[in-house]
Amino acid sequence: MSAPQKVALVTGAYKGIGLEVVRQLAARGVRVFLTARQRGAGEKAAASIKGDVHFVLLDVSDVESIESAARVVAKQTDHLDILINNAAILLDDAGSVLDLEGETVLKTFATNTVGPMLVTQAFQPLLEQSKAPRVINMSSGAGQLADGLQDWAPAYSMSKTALNSLTQHFAAALPRFAVNSVSPGWVRTDMGGDAAPLSVEQGADTLVWLALDAPQSLTGKFLRERAEIAW
Ligand SMILES: NC(=O)c1ccc[n+]([C@@H]2O[C@H](COP(=O)([O-])OP(=O)(O)OC[C@H]3O[C@@H](n4cnc5c(N)ncnc54)[C@H](OP(=O)(O)O)[C@@H]3O)[C@@H](O)[C@H]2O)c1
Repeated sequence: MSAPQKVALVTGAYKGIGLEVVRQLAARGVRVFLTARQRGAGEKAAASIKGDVHFVLLDVSDVESIESAARVVAKQTDHLDILINNAAILLDDAGSVLDLEGETVLKTFATNTVGPMLVTQAFQPLLEQSKAPRVINMSSGAGQLADGLQDWAPAYSMSKTALNSLTQHFAAALPRFAVNSVSPGWVRTDMGGDAAPLSVEQGADTLVWLALDAPQSLTGKFLRERAEIAW
């Protein structure tokens, strides 16, 4: 008898690493809700992938959009096994903390940190119906302080450090869940740019491993290349 089909949802997934994660999950037989805040691009991306992939409109910085997406998904599945909080913005890559505007920090945190928190809360009821629920937060080496500050994009970096903290809070609050965050490395995407050394396939690897292959007991960690790292 074959194992029941897993169900996953990925945010910000019409392009970049998120789209590659959807592609790899679908190729492994997972039913995937590909979500994006742009309907046209999201529908096109979902249609371009072979497998059981469904588009759902979701702007992670908009509470009503999150609640609406949770209602839409709950009509199409009775459980969710994997939630991947991938969507993020990088507004201040050339900026210095000395002239950083509060508005930039608030906007960045709304998408990169508060977004994953509200999305996880909204989908918790569906995740609770899974035998082995998993939440994966897309963080960044920019948020890592353990190896010394990178001194780059302060709003983005702080939002990812806070995301790693959020990961630990959810891991503590949801002991049956595996909740982890990932540094994908420097990846060639619209955000990463053309000079990045890693492909989207490489950037997606640890996320897909955490989604399908890592032990359920691995939780509350920050990982790069399938291994825990300090943050
Ligand atoms: N590329 C790298 O080197 C690198 C390194 C470390 C971490 N990361 C992380 O990897 C993740 C994916 O980034 P990427 O490199 O694949 O960049 P990307 O291609 O620019 O993808 C970012 C995605 O997030 C979406 N997004 C932004 N705000 C959103 C919102 N409010 N609601 C829904 N979707 C939203 C974007 O959609 P729109 O086009 O609609 O804005 C886009 O689909 C991000 O969390 C990023 O911080 C990337």
